[in-house]
Amino acid sequence: MKRDFLAVTDFTSKEIKDVLTIAKVVKHMHRWGDDPKPLAGKHSALMFRKPSLRTRASFETGIRQLGANTLFFSDKEIGMGERESIHDVAKVMSRYFDLIVIRTYEHSEIVEFAKYCEVPVVNALTDLLHPCQIMGDIFTIMECKNRIDDVSIAYLGDGGNNVANSWVNLASRIPIDLRIGTTEDRQPDEKILENAKKNGASKITITDNPVEAVDNVDVIYTDVWASMGEKEKIQQRQEKLAKFQVNNELLSNAKDDVIFMHCLPAERGREVTDEVMDGEHSVVFEQAENRLHIQKAIILQLFGERF
Ligand code: CP
Ligand code: NVA
Repeated sequence: MKRDFLAVTDFTSKEIKDVLTIAKVVKHMHRWGDDPKPLAGKHSALMFRKPSLRTRASFETGIRQLGANTLFFSDKEIGMGERESIHDVAKVMSRYFDLIVIRTYEHSEIVEFAKYCEVPVVNALTDLLHPCQIMGDIFTIMECKNRIDDVSIAYLGDGGNNVANSWVNLASRIPIDLRIGTTEDRQPDEKILENAKKNGASKITITDNPVEAVDNVDVIYTDVWASMGEKEKIQQRQEKLAKFQVNNELLSNAKDDVIFMHCLPAERGREVTDEVMDGEHSVVFEQAENRLHIQKAIILQLFGERF
């Protein structure tokens, strides 16, 4: 049966650890100019309804490095759900392609697409989730800290977005100390949070106190305060979220070897200062690079390919 990757929770804990191991190997092989090509002869499609730099570039190059072809479709070309039903687009794409990567708005769109699609579907970001990002990020943490279990991570700012929700999903698979510093009206998705708390794998704390969130923490993470598709909301959020800005003063409450992470694109001067983005604790460009290696590993896991 084909497998999809729409949420971090589509993988078991063991599968997440396997994917991290595969990513380590493919990264190493890439450095030696020896990319494995187990997908030679396959064809993939990227269907993106929102802008992208990292996700598009890393999927396109990564898929080619694995030996397959890629074709990119913007929203204008397909008009999924408008020009043609999601069902019909999924059926047609299944006849041409071996893998589909989708970036869209409503999470229900990708779920419906995957239901009718006969080949693996990967979530390249929806309003609800950004699972490939968080897989890349935990890989970066593993590289920087030499472990993932029980790492303490403070996510600050917009606690209700796709990146925050995906951190909560990861917390239900890998034992971490996840602290979300946010306001009452920007909490993670209720269902996702309830599942992670019920599951009990991790310690999850939600606080409106940024200093409490970052106290002696291993990782400080932030994202924009208004995501794609809701940029007009920045004015109403700006004032309330201001205290969660990651600056040197806030950083000084964390461990001495804290790492600073941001999925990018960043709005410098808003959720994070230049001094932190460009400072000695920042690993934001390692994170960006690791999207390439982790996504190759995710794809190999979906195809059950080893080399
Ligand atoms: N982090 C991330 O997904 O970046 P893009 O939106 O540029 O793809
Ligand atoms: N939360 C951000 C992530 C961008 C990679 C957004 O959805 O715009």
